[in-house]
Amino acid sequence: MPKTKCRLNHSILLLLIAQITISDAVKCHDCVGLNCMGSFCEGDYCMVSQYAPRWGYLPWIFSTVVKGCVNGSMLAKDIRDHCEYAEGSDEPFTCFCNGKDLCNTRGKLRNVESEDVELVQCVCDGAHCRTDEKTCIGEFCTYVINHATKQVEKGCTNASVPLIERRAIGSCMTPPITGAMHHTIAKDLPNLLPVESCICGTDYCNSEKPTPTVPEKEKCTAFIEMTTMGTTMKSRNISCSGEYCFTATIKSELGIISSYRTLGCASFTGEDPLPEELNPTGCAVFSSENVEVETCFKTSDKSAVSRALASKQIPYKWSLRKYQTLKAKQMEINEEIKEEEKEKDEEIEEEEPTQPPIPDDSNTTMITVFVLIIICILGSGIV
Ligand SMILES: *[C@@H]1O[C@H](CO)[C@@H](O)[C@H](O)[C@H]1NC(C)=O
Ligand SMILES: *[C@@H]1O[C@H](CO)[C@@H](O)[C@H](O)[C@H]1NC(C)=O
Ligand SMILES: *[C@@H]1O[C@H](CO)[C@@H](O)[C@H](O)[C@H]1NC(C)=O
Repeated sequence: MPKTKCRLNHSILLLLIAQITISDAVKCHDCVGLNCMGSFCEGDYCMVSQYAPRWGYLPWIFSTVVKGCVNGSMLAKDIRDHCEYAEGSDEPFTCFCNGKDLCNTRGKLRNVESEDVELVQCVCDGAHCRTDEKTCIGEFCTYVINHATKQVEKGCTNASVPLIERRAIGSCMTPPITGAMHHTIAKDLPNLLPVESCICGTDYCNSEKPTPTVPEKEKCTAFIEMTTMGTTMKSRNISCSGEYCFTATIKSELGIISSYRTLGCASFTGEDPLPEELNPTGCAVFSSENVEVETCFKTSDKSAVSRALASKQIPYKWSLRKYQTLKAKQMEINEEIKEEEKEKDEEIEEEEPTQPPIPDDSNTTMITVFVLIIICILGSGIV
């Protein structure tokens, strides 16, 4: 038995090696909806993501799940198969996999590593906030300032499109890289050019303006273009400077906005880690049946790249967390055992005061018996 098992393992290993060497692209489902099986694409990784693009406070469509392929130099080489879930939800927020072809089915994704998307609490201040609430909950906090009018808004947002916001976390951008980041601060497209949006990922990190203190050596073009219902709107082109130049393009047959493109500047505060799936620079393309998203970050500043790499998220966050929970459980169990032992000790201690009287009693009986015997002896002696 052990021999066959061993041989089986060997052939599986060989098959795996063959697969890895023959093709480095993986085949993925490419469709809309968590259960969809539709058409196929090929890429570096299969992905599942939420698609909930917005323009300020207006959603283009209701949030939906999109499946597709991702390619590009911005993707890390060794992304492990994993899914992120929002706390308390069993629908994945984001998944990456390339372990096998068509790994992005609902069933297969149940078996990959899972981790919670940590939601943060933020200050909410602005027209988009609910009247009775000064805080909100989301994946990131936002701090938005319109430099033309000096208007400021603070709030929360969730990743609205695959990849783009993931790379932008921890930065201040001009203009906002996606429409989900400006709340009600700009009524129309040209008004967005002087808007700076910062997104950060720790509790109340937007109470003050996050301020990057890094050198901003890159000269970039700032520009926004949007096509909706057959009409294209464009801003002027202005120049900006930052740590990185970015571009982002969303093309979609879902919802009322068919294309959205931004070019601009981004500088990082260093307070948030670079996500484990991404490299500091390069491009990444997500493509699905009805949605294509591309983002690029570029810089010629080598120290910017080293700063980003130094802040890169440790890939085994989940394992670490699992280890910590296991450790905590273990300690709990140890505590319980200690408690039990303590209780036993206490029981023994409780028993002890009741036990001594027994020998005492027997002692007295013995003494009584002894005395009686002596009395008997004395009595018989007398007799
Ligand atoms: C991704 O790259 C592979 C080659 O590695 C190519 O065959 C495929 O068409 C690309 N997919 C997308 C969506 O660009
Ligand atoms: C972000 O997503 C979480 C979990 O789905 C939700 O509770 C929260 O309200 C969302 N926040 C925003 C600002 O949409
Ligand atoms: C602005 O820049 C973008 C991107 O470089 C370019 O496609 C567009 O044509 C430019 N527009 C003008 C008016 O120069």
